[in-house]
Amino acid sequence: MQSNTKATAAPKILLATADTRWSQDVLQTLSSKGFDCHHVREGKECQLKVYQQKYSAVLLDPDLQNHSGIEVLKFLKLKHPAVQVIMVFPDQKRSDDYKELCSNSLRAGISKTFVRPLSVNNIVDYLNDLTPSESWKKSSQDPSLPVIPDSEVSDKDCTRVDIAQFFSETPVIFDHYLRISPDHFVKVIGRGESLTSTQVKKYANDGVKYFYFLTRERRNYINFLNEVLKTSMTKSTVAKSQVLSQMVEVSEKFIEEFNVRGLRPDLVIECKNMSRNSFKFIQESQSLRKIMTDFSQLSPELYNKAFLVSFLAGIISRNIQWIGPSTLEAITLAAYLQDIGFVNLPPHVIELQPHEMNAADLALYKDHPRTGADMLSLVPEVSAQVIQIVHQHHELSSGEGFPHGLKGNRVYPMARIISLANALAGLMIRKKLCPLLAMKEFLNEKSQLRHYDPMTIHALLKAFKESGSDT
Ligand SMILES: [Fe+2]
Repeated sequence: MQSNTKATAAPKILLATADTRWSQDVLQTLSSKGFDCHHVREGKECQLKVYQQKYSAVLLDPDLQNHSGIEVLKFLKLKHPAVQVIMVFPDQKRSDDYKELCSNSLRAGISKTFVRPLSVNNIVDYLNDLTPSESWKKSSQDPSLPVIPDSEVSDKDCTRVDIAQFFSETPVIFDHYLRISPDHFVKVIGRGESLTSTQVKKYANDGVKYFYFLTRERRNYINFLNEVLKTSMTKSTVAKSQVLSQMVEVSEKFIEEFNVRGLRPDLVIECKNMSRNSFKFIQESQSLRKIMTDFSQLSPELYNKAFLVSFLAGIISRNIQWIGPSTLEAITLAAYLQDIGFVNLPPHVIELQPHEMNAADLALYKDHPRTGADMLSLVPEVSAQVIQIVHQHHELSSGEGFPHGLKGNRVYPMARIISLANALAGLMIRKKLCPLLAMKEFLNEKSQLRHYDPMTIHALLKAFKESGSDT
């Protein structure tokens, strides 16, 4: 059981524009939505502020003076690449002019562009996606959200959560219920409220094993757990092993999300169990446990992704005839371990997307499959097959992957499965898509398909066709 009394700080947003009227509107709206928003009128001031304080995002007016918008953009990209730069153009023409003016690499430093006139709420929605903890916090306090009467809550609507996994002292972001009898629930705590650890213990002593929440809130629940986990990871009082087991819980809830979104339920259960078995295998090896514990300390998102790729690789592999049980195990385990080479990367590189990295950082990043494979080669329990897959998990059939740029059949067949699972998982996470929508988007990106093995794509399609989805 976890205690977290420290509130998450509001995300800092810097608004850089000389347009006083518009800035007032933005400041007012962002502050009312829980953001810590500051305003500067000149480019120099903007650079100084970003240097002095840690901002999540900068809303940048291209018409900024002393220094110009484009100079500020260059500064942010080079010196503070982790800061999200959101360009807000005064009109479409300025936006088009900017495209001409900026090099491709400079444009890559822009996270998002907006063109005025626009509702500030559009910006709020985008910022909420960047800094979701605030939106969850807000949702816990929003009186306009519908209150569901207990009498309308039934078994089919609910997902249970083990009371031992409940985070006491932390305000919850949606209602939690007790199940009194079939289809009969009573609310224990509502949005924005919390239970003390003593209250939770009392429920446990009274024989309560689970709290329940509405299944449609599951995605919020996963995001909420991720936020709490991040706080746990910074606390020396919380055992690393405890954080790791909480991550498994979060990842499994993430996988459960699929049950209601397209894939065949029995396949979901089977592949979830395979990923869980990989986790057990890791736990049983002292060396692997240590490696995975270090990896899990990097970020919950990285761990979630590993679990998700392992799951998707299982889904694809189950539809490839020549893959037997032991190969299937090797694939799901390798997917789980694929990014362990990240533990040797400098922290600032882990925070960046590859397109945000400079040449030196990119070279380090591209070496993570090799360093991961080297780490595993020292663990006797890990097979040569798994090591090979980890080494090649970023190789692409087109020959444009790394670290070696292997092409076509030279890429290990099992590694081709992982690279496809990685592409799909990346889309799901980045665009918050369910597997079916992620796959449709993936298939629409014709220029990307050439990177992946056609037989592996076919196996992925089969998983959806078998589930009766209209693909
Ligand atoms: Fe990787």
